[in-house]
This record gives sequence, structure tokens and C-alpha cells, in this order.
Amino acid sequence: RDPGWTEWADVIVVGSGIAGLTAALRLRDQVERVAVVTKDVLQAGSTQWAQGGIAAALGEGDTPEQHEVDTLVAGAGACDLEAVRVLVGEGAEAVRELIEWGADFDKDPDGNLSLTREGGHHRDRIAHADGDATGAEIQRALIEAVRRAPDAPAGEERSDASPIMVFEHAMVVDLLTADDGGVAGLTIHVMGEGDADGVGMVRTRAVVLASGGLGQVFSQTTNPAVATADGMAIALRAGATLRDLEFVQFHPTVMYLGEDSRGQQPLISEAVRGEGAFLVDWDGARLMEGVHEMRDLAPRDIVSKAIMKRMLETGHPNMWLDARHLGRAFWEKRFPNILASCKQHGVDPAVDLIPVAPACHYASGGVRTDLWGRSSVPGLYATGEVACSGVHGANRLASNSLLEGLVFSRRIAEVLPGELRQLEDPETDTTTHVDRVLVPGTALKQLQETMTTKVGVLRNATGVAEAVDELEKLGRTPATTIDPEAWEATNLLTVSLALARSALLREETRGSHWREDFGQRDDAGFAGHFDVRLLDGET
Ligand code: SIN
Repeated sequence: RDPGWTEWADVIVVGSGIAGLTAALRLRDQVERVAVVTKDVLQAGSTQWAQGGIAAALGEGDTPEQHEVDTLVAGAGACDLEAVRVLVGEGAEAVRELIEWGADFDKDPDGNLSLTREGGHHRDRIAHADGDATGAEIQRALIEAVRRAPDAPAGEERSDASPIMVFEHAMVVDLLTADDGGVAGLTIHVMGEGDADGVGMVRTRAVVLASGGLGQVFSQTTNPAVATADGMAIALRAGATLRDLEFVQFHPTVMYLGEDSRGQQPLISEAVRGEGAFLVDWDGARLMEGVHEMRDLAPRDIVSKAIMKRMLETGHPNMWLDARHLGRAFWEKRFPNILASCKQHGVDPAVDLIPVAPACHYASGGVRTDLWGRSSVPGLYATGEVACSGVHGANRLASNSLLEGLVFSRRIAEVLPGELRQLEDPETDTTTHVDRVLVPGTALKQLQETMTTKVGVLRNATGVAEAVDELEKLGRTPATTIDPEAWEATNLLTVSLALARSALLREETRGSHWREDFGQRDDAGFAGHFDVRLLDGET
């Protein structure tokens, strides 16, 4: 498995969503060579699937302080206050820069940004684009900006002058480390036909991980197929510390397509509830009445728990979202993509109730970083969903995720150029760290089933301990051939185990971590944050 080719770059950005492309755009004038590596095409990650929008104190009368309060309340006492202050304080300016780069958000008739509300927000502060296709618009604008010459204005024709090198269909297998334990390069599997397929090495002095989340750990998720926890796993193997892995957010309103439906499921944005839709049970009773003062716009963990509780009480596999009163014309204008997706599954939301159930949506934990995106490994930075900057605590506030990627990538670009280490003749370890892999297929399906049933929305000590045991027994085989799907499955196993062990340790219910055997939030006995590292020899 020795690499067959070598490249170099000053900085490699892994991932091409809002976090990755923002970092690349901000770095390109400051370092000689920036490379973006993505294992599919540039637009394949989670960003393009974001429906609701991006939150920032942009509206009249709104302030970063009010955004801070909502973020802290949603985070259930586990946020890092300084990180939250960075997020909300720099958020509005970061969104304005995104607009300068060409992102076109919806406006009201007076030409002001049209802002909506989502769960946990006490203000209308969610900017959106094309109704319910915010992520796709942001992704489009960023890709065009990456392909434009550095100082060409938005809308200008594409040019080859961009100094950002892009590697598509290139999966990072491992981080390579130098003698000082810091970053020295990456091994990358470029996926192609015949001779074009194979593993090579890019030497580099810094890596920005922006590779997204871990949704594929579970059988049902809103995340695309590429969300296989790769960044978290390679960071662990390189010696980095991860944090807060047990805090996985389950989105309350994911369209329920039947118990056999696997993988990415259609999201029904919280913005639909922001515009007046509400949850009902099988008898038509309002589900959030009497549960929380914000009713259907309560923080996401509260709504998910209310749905799950009613599902468990009644034995039904789903509950219902009633958005019929919004009317067909409103649906067509405000939520054209969700409307199309519902119709594709035989549901007309202007006439029918939408079947919904919680599904895995977002990893609040990840690679532990400081306020400037630095991980515990020299030269390794992390931003976006792969990172744990501390802004989300135990439960992310709706639409804070795109903002986190934007704000912390800008911060990384401020410090990274001044921190590039000298690696003239690095003693680089050039082989990958994984010598045994999980074979995808049956074993992977079993992993996802185990995680969903035993480490999913509702957890208890017996179930989670069984899950740890089952995951530990999943057979690995020697990694004799190079297979991207096996790398992905192995990454999922590494991160699932770390997640399950953290979930077992946290003996309380807090935010998105719900223990039926420890049903209350325990502020007096709060165990702090659980940091995760691999033991020597563990992969
Ligand atoms: C949604 O539109 O409901 C998802 C937005 C988010 O996850 O923040």
C-alpha cells in the first residue's frame, strides 16, 4: 500500500462544503498552493442539502446577544461560552461576505433579507435562498467563487486563474505525521478507471479538515451517503482528540418512508413549522401542546423527544406534520423542493398529513478545536460539522451549522498562514495507519442497525453496552487491497465505537443525549466533556 505518486501543497483542505470552500477562498491569497480534496464531486457534501438556512443576527432589533442566549439554551448547559460569542459576534459579517461572493438570499419586496424563524429561536433570523434550497445556493456560489480568478467580481465568467487545486473523487485515507507528531501529508485514494485509480501522497504543512459529519453511522439519516465520519476517524488515527461525540442531533421531522427505508431520508425543514405547520398524533391531537412554551418551535431535542415518546406510547412508527393550511400556492413559492420531494413519495402536503419520525441529522461533537480551529495535532485544523468548537454543546440550535463552518473557517485562515511549520525534509511516515478493515456489506448494515436500535434517539446502559460489545466483535480483515468502501466502513466503525462508549459514560439526559435510565439533566453532577483518543495500536 505504498503511495504510487506524490504531490505537494502548502495547505490541503479536506471537504468542499461551506466550511471547506470558505477556508480555501480565504487562504488562497495568503499561501502559495491550496488544494481542496473531496471524495465525490465538489457539491456532493451535506451543505447542498441544507434547507432551512443560515442563522445570524441580521434583522432589525436582533442582536448577537439574543442569538447567544438562544444558542446557549439549545445547547443545554454544555456550550463553550467564548466559542458561542465568536459565532454570534462574527456571524452577520461572515454572511455578508458570503453574499459578496455571490450567494443570493431571498429578499422581501423592499429588498431586505427575508428572515424566517426555526425551533429555539426567539427572533426571525434565518436567511434562506430559493425558498428551501439555501444550501444548494450557497454551494453554487462558493464553487463559482473557487473557480473564478481571485479578484474577479461575483457573476464574472469562470477562469482557470484560480490557484486553488481541486482533487475530486479523491478519498483521504490517512493523515501522515512528521517527527514532531504534526501534519506532514495525506495519503489519498484517487478513484478512477484502470491506472487512474490508486493511492498517492500529498505532502503538506497543514490540513484543514472540513469533511462533514457521521450520519451514515445510523440506518436512517438526513445526511448524504458521503457522510461516513472519515475526518473524525483519520484525526483519531493521527492522534487528535475528539469531544462530545455522544451529542448526536436527531431531527424531529424527517419523512417516514417505512421501516425498511435505509440511508438518506427526506428532510422536512423546521422552517415549515416556522411558517405555521404543527405536529399531530394518530388521533389528530396537537403533539407539542403543553410540552414546551414554544410548542412546535421548541428546541429540536425537545420536539424529537415528544415525537418519540408518543411513538413509544402508541406503538406507531411515526407521527404527522400538518401543513395543509399553508395552502398550495404558499407551498409552491416557499418550499418548492420539499413539496417536490413529498410528491415523489406520494404525499401532497397541501392535502395530506406528512408522516414524520426523528432521524440522525447532525454531529454536535467532533475534532476538538480551540477558538481558531486548531486541533490538538500541530498543523491540523478542523471546521464545520467535523469539528467540535464548543458552539453546539449538547444540542445544536437550528441553522447554526452553516454559520459555524463560515465563521471558524474565516478564523482558521487568519492564523494558519502564520503558523505553517517548516518541514523541509520531513521524516514522514508514508504508510497508512489502518492495517485491518471492516468489510462493507453485511457487517456495515449490522453496525448501522446496532447504532440505530441501541445508541439512537433513546439510550440506556444495557442497550449501549450491548452495542459496544457487538461493535467490538465485528470482524475486520487485513487491508490487503485498496477499497474506498472498506475505508469508509472502517471509519464508521472507529467513530461508532467512540460514540457508543461516550454515550455509555454520560449518565444523564442532556440535550440530544437521552438516557431512559438517567432521565434528568444532572447539573450538580455534570461530568464535563468527554474527550476521546485512540489507544496505542487501536484503529
Ligand atoms: C432544517 O431546515 O430543519 C435543518 C436546518 C438545520 O439543521 O439547521
